[in-house]
Amino acid sequence: MSESLDKLFSPQRIKRDAAALAIWGCDWTRSFPVAPSAVVFPETIEEVQALVVLANEEGLQLVPSGGRTGLSGGAVASHGEVVVSFDRMNRILDFASADRLITCQAGVVTQTLQDFATRQGYFYPVDFASAGSSQLGGNIATNAGGIRVIRYGMTRNWIAGLRVVTGTGELLDCNQGLVKNATGYDFRHLFIGSEGTLGFIVEADVRLTRIPEPQQVMVLGFEKFRDILKVLSHFQSLVELSAFEFFSELALQKVTAHRELQRPLADGAQFYALLEFDASAAENATAAFEHAVTEGWVSDGVLSQSDAQAASLWQLREGISESLAPFSPYKNDLSVRISEMPEFLDDVDGMVRACYPDFEVCWYGHIGDGNLHLNILKPEDVSIDEFYHRCHEISPQLFELVRARRGSISAEHGVGLLKKEFLQYSRSSADLKIMRALKMVLDPNGVMNPGKLL
Ligand code: MLT
Ligand code: ZN
Repeated sequence: MSESLDKLFSPQRIKRDAAALAIWGCDWTRSFPVAPSAVVFPETIEEVQALVVLANEEGLQLVPSGGRTGLSGGAVASHGEVVVSFDRMNRILDFASADRLITCQAGVVTQTLQDFATRQGYFYPVDFASAGSSQLGGNIATNAGGIRVIRYGMTRNWIAGLRVVTGTGELLDCNQGLVKNATGYDFRHLFIGSEGTLGFIVEADVRLTRIPEPQQVMVLGFEKFRDILKVLSHFQSLVELSAFEFFSELALQKVTAHRELQRPLADGAQFYALLEFDASAAENATAAFEHAVTEGWVSDGVLSQSDAQAASLWQLREGISESLAPFSPYKNDLSVRISEMPEFLDDVDGMVRACYPDFEVCWYGHIGDGNLHLNILKPEDVSIDEFYHRCHEISPQLFELVRARRGSISAEHGVGLLKKEFLQYSRSSADLKIMRALKMVLDPNGVMNPGKLL
């Protein structure tokens, strides 16, 4: 098996040393064993196809690897798999102004794509803290969301075409970058969010939009979570929001300590919301803020007066995940409809207080999208295994609350290994049956990212 891989890839494009296996064999999760047998670096679609054919012939299992910033173990290789890194398929292939499309290989880094779009006078709006290292293929495979979904939607909304190598080594050209195409099943949407279990994305046609006008940022303080939702609807009636994010006081404490940042408001609050909108809407936003203060929803607020201040306010939200990493957080990424959020939050809060009395629980997320990140922090004196075991044990109760409100146990981080055993809380048995049947069609020998998602 090993020799066959060496026939496909020159020595510089195949790694087997322990350091490389440890790097390319995992993502940002730290709770799964990392044990791939090799890492390969294809440069062309034909090489990916040949590798998949070889995997079918010789019983190899393949794990796709992008920027490795995933949070659910979707790119972890624990059982001697061959990791397929897209680091060398990182070229922007084409830009078509009339189509507003960029065609990229899967390994293009998100920020490279954003910067390229800006240089052409356009905007690629999908954005998140890991944009500097995450790759487009991974974003598509997990249907990545991030901080501007409220205005621009998820990655799915921006993919006009996909080239995918299926689990049998066939190349599918999905939707060809077309705006209109009514020729039956749109396989593009099957592969978006499929976590590499049906095929490997090798190229994508990415849609662009107009560059937005300059943005301003407001941070507001709240005592009651329910008031955040009132403020969200009130602002939305007056202002087109580009972001509406939230974080708790504990999250603020962690990020200000970690990044040595100033607190945004003179007095503390229980919760904070960060709003972003077009600068031309600042007058309406100020009126909305004043109304929120009069109603007693908001305790205090700050409006950015410069791009630098806006960027430092954003750090308070974008730095949270990084600031929690030293606490080996157990991550939850839940969503419900926005209208369900207040009751859902009360339920979750009650459950968390009862079940985790001795753990710190950090709340933040994309509240404007109904997406809550609930991170449980590991106390120093509890071992990682015991901590994960206790969190895992309680997850069914939490996911039962999600199911009761027809929500999702993974809003944007994917299922991977972390949420796999809980998928039935968000997908029916009919759904799962069809998902397995699709897997059988597209990857009959189970070579594509085995053990993930299903
Ligand atoms: C975020 O919203 O900061 C990201 O999804 C990462 C995380 O949840 O830790
Ligand atoms: Zn998030």
